[in-house]
Amino acid sequence: MKILVTGGTGYIGSHTVLSLQEAGHDVVVIDNLVNSSEESLRRVAELSGKEAEFHNVDLVDEAAVEQVFAGAGIDAVIHFAGLKAVGESVREPLKYYYNNLVGTLNLIRVMDRHDVRSFVFSSSATVYGEHNPIPYVEKMEIGANNPYGRTKEQIEDILSDLGDADPRWHIALLRYFNPVGAHPSGRIGEDPQGIPNNLVPFIAQVAVGRREKLMVFGGDYDTPDGTCLRDYIHVEDLAEGHVAALNYVAGRAGVFRWNLGSGRGSSVLEVLRSFEKAVGEPIPYEITERRAGDLPAFWADAASALADLGWSTTKTVDQMCEDHWRWQKNNPQGYAS
Ligand code: NAD
Ligand code: UFG
Repeated sequence: MKILVTGGTGYIGSHTVLSLQEAGHDVVVIDNLVNSSEESLRRVAELSGKEAEFHNVDLVDEAAVEQVFAGAGIDAVIHFAGLKAVGESVREPLKYYYNNLVGTLNLIRVMDRHDVRSFVFSSSATVYGEHNPIPYVEKMEIGANNPYGRTKEQIEDILSDLGDADPRWHIALLRYFNPVGAHPSGRIGEDPQGIPNNLVPFIAQVAVGRREKLMVFGGDYDTPDGTCLRDYIHVEDLAEGHVAALNYVAGRAGVFRWNLGSGRGSSVLEVLRSFEKAVGEPIPYEITERRAGDLPAFWADAASALADLGWSTTKTVDQMCEDHWRWQKNNPQGYAS
């Protein structure tokens, strides 16, 4: 198939472009490079031996999106493009609602006009909000507790309504848990701009000497070691989950929801210990105040993805840390190195 990947120069997108090319698909990428670099695609091409067609386009520009589709022969779309920093979304909600909602609406309207109706969407475990019991199951009522999460929930609602109204649509809503790691080559990986929001990129920057120490947000939670539990998933497993979901929906109309997680929780300190093992040295840290909005623990019920897609995670937290570290060590300043 010829697959359009929005956000394809980003962290998860670049790994998925590689997985798609390895599965024999042709890839077209749209990205406005607001949080990524085209260098990722050059390196993906180096790894796969295949070039993806790249368009520096902002999804809020509907006419530009239209031009990409015109005569391109696209069969399906995987939609990663969006802004994703929870704290920033609280401070600048309009930026998030505008970018994520308008970008997605433009994309699906253009798809509809071009008779392209197979769609895989990057949702997030954050849609489960704070009131659901763990593990999270796809049939639970959703309700995010921050603007970023609400853009995901609202887009899920829009796509569900669309699928219900028009049976020609084939839609997968993929709820990711906590993606970490990098391609084992160390050539592509996560390259956050500014201070990393997420745990493993922060640890990696401490390990490589860019930051002094890790702040562990809270050591007094009601968990085995007092730090929060999360369901970490290797980005390569996540990328393979997209290929599996795409194969599934390509043959079936409807709206499908899958958690992409391992079904296991790891604590902040367990992840830190795994990363120290990968580096071979202790990593300085300090236990500080809890971070506002953090939940003590959540992980996926991963049974549906296994039953429907035959997909499950294959890589351990140790492997995620080894691969993340190889990428960081070889590229201390990310793609700017
Ligand atoms: P990323 O920032 O590396 O990738 C997103 C890409 O989208 C970037 O390359 C950015 O330049 C591009 N983009 C943003 N707005 C755009 C627009 N208007 N037009 C064109 N391109 C635009 O992030 P990622 O970690 O690869 O995440 C990919 C998707 O997965 C996002 O939708 C994110 O919300 C979702 N997600 C990520 C995580 C995570 O922890 N990384 C967890 C759950 C869900
Ligand atoms: N953590 C630290 N120190 C840090 C960063 C994180 O102790 O410097 C802790 C957090 O408190 C949390 C765990 O590490 O207990 C994981 O935190 P992340 O920020 O990596 O990930 P979250 O589970 O908090 O998920 C967040 C948002 C989600 C979003 C996801 C991906 O809450 O909505 O990031 O962007 F989907």
